[in-house]
Amino acid sequence: MIIAIDGPAGAGKSTTARAVAKYFGFAYVDTGAMYRAVALVALEAGLKLPDDEASIIEVARSLPIAIRDNGQSTWIGPRNVSTLIRSPEVAQFTSQISTLPEVRVVIVEKQQQIARDGEAECGGAVLEGRDIQTVVFPEAEVKIFLTADPRTRASRRLIEWQHKGESVDLAAAEEELRARDERDIGRDTSPLRAAEDAVVVATDGISCDEVVEQIAQVVREKTKIKKAKI
Ligand code: DC
Repeated sequence: MIIAIDGPAGAGKSTTARAVAKYFGFAYVDTGAMYRAVALVALEAGLKLPDDEASIIEVARSLPIAIRDNGQSTWIGPRNVSTLIRSPEVAQFTSQISTLPEVRVVIVEKQQQIARDGEAECGGAVLEGRDIQTVVFPEAEVKIFLTADPRTRASRRLIEWQHKGESVDLAAAEEELRARDERDIGRDTSPLRAAEDAVVVATDGISCDEVVEQIAQVVREKTKIKKAKI
């Protein structure tokens, strides 16, 4: 079973997807981490858009990205980059480089492979991102689109950054999300949107456990339907 969870930054995708994967014993795949790894290496090499588009595509093609610890850590060859890829600068540049169709083709293939391996090993995979239900796995059995009010999303992001010692305020967090939303929703290739058959879950004011329970209910319904058809 593939469970596709999409939504804007700060909607609660990572927390939810991890918890759903744990609940069912499935593999967890954080697809944003892979785009972030490409952005990190491109930034470290001083590459910029639009001038260095060809070099950034080459980085995506040649980068030895590995996702370990059931999706909890991201590696580039022997380097654990799990913390480095979470900075606000990397987040912004990631949303720029992820508009490049050639980068997406390479990364989507890797995501499909990782998810299939996880499915084979654990019986299912939970993927979170922006285009999982529309592009990466349009045939996913379960499609969830998470939403939350912009203020709620910015507050969550602010808390995350403060925990990491970043000095940002709420206005900066709101601006960061607004700029990313605009690019993620407005891009030509694989824009962020819900699939027609997605279940939309608003995460404002409800606990992670409640969100997980709503998703588990959708999964149970789908499994029942599948069994009834056999
Ligand atoms: O989920 P995240 O915040 O780690 O994602 C970082 C950026 O990566 C996001 O702004 C857009 C891009 N992304 C994408 O284009 N497609 C995905 N499936 C996941 C992330």
